[in-house]
Amino acid sequence: MTIRLAKKDDVSKVSQIHAFCWRETYSFMPRTVLQSRNRKFRKSQWIKWFESQAKDEALFVVEADHVVVGFCFCCPNRDEAIQGRGEMHAAYVLPDFRGREVGPMMMMAMLDFMIGHELTPPVLWAFRDNPIRLWYAQMGWRAEVRRDRVIEGCAIPEVGYVCTDVGALHARLRKLIRRYCGETALTQTRQRFQRNPHQSSFRLTAVSPDNSRTMTETGRQTRLDPL
Ligand SMILES: CC(C)(COP(=O)(O)OP(=O)(O)OC[C@H]1O[C@@H](n2cnc3c(N)ncnc32)[C@H](O)[C@@H]1OP(=O)(O)O)[C@@H](O)C(=O)NCCC(=O)NCCS
Repeated sequence: MTIRLAKKDDVSKVSQIHAFCWRETYSFMPRTVLQSRNRKFRKSQWIKWFESQAKDEALFVVEADHVVVGFCFCCPNRDEAIQGRGEMHAAYVLPDFRGREVGPMMMMAMLDFMIGHELTPPVLWAFRDNPIRLWYAQMGWRAEVRRDRVIEGCAIPEVGYVCTDVGALHARLRKLIRRYCGETALTQTRQRFQRNPHQSSFRLTAVSPDNSRTMTETGRQTRLDPL
């Protein structure tokens, strides 16, 4: 299992997962909204993003056996209604790969990128009817503000969360990763982060002694694992 920065070649797979997860997770949304956020829409959105890529934004992909199974995206916070410098804007993993270390590893990758780019405290938004909100609260995110996101003319309520204690969030994520990958993984993770704690280029590897799965995350495009 690998987490790395996305490349242009990943756009197709990212768009597919993006559209799929919206339909699968956001069944509470009007049909017109889900139909509009289809693969074609996402593809043009992500292509545009690659063309105007900002240094303080990052798109990460998760790979299992060299196949992309999830992605996450973070950027500066652009909503003045919520107090935070950076935003964890998207996190989507295919259902078969949920419920293990992938979610916590993605949040940790974004958190470290944001720390390295002075984008803390971080914020995130979740649709009011998305049950994942419970997890965010458990992880120490504080519900701060509500807003309606208008998509295709439909107002969809969402809740904005802030994390004011980045250290505590980091510790909780490490604990979860330890639960899934074991003590060895955690030690390696910590060492890697300490070696390069505040730079956008870093590499993180967590090895599970139980099943020999490996997670690697790199923030430097030139050092990516081959697809
Ligand atoms: C968000 C996401 C990337 C997190 O990754 P993950 O691998 O599921 O992370 P975890 O396994 O650690 O799950 C986090 C917790 O949320 C819970 N959870 C996940 N999806 C849930 C759902 N639909 N309903 C209720 N609880 C859910 C898990 O049970 C877990 O709780 P636990 O730690 O008490 O067992 C992944 O769940 C996902 O892709 N969800 C669909 C899209 C989505 O909602 N994205 C977030 C947009 S704000």
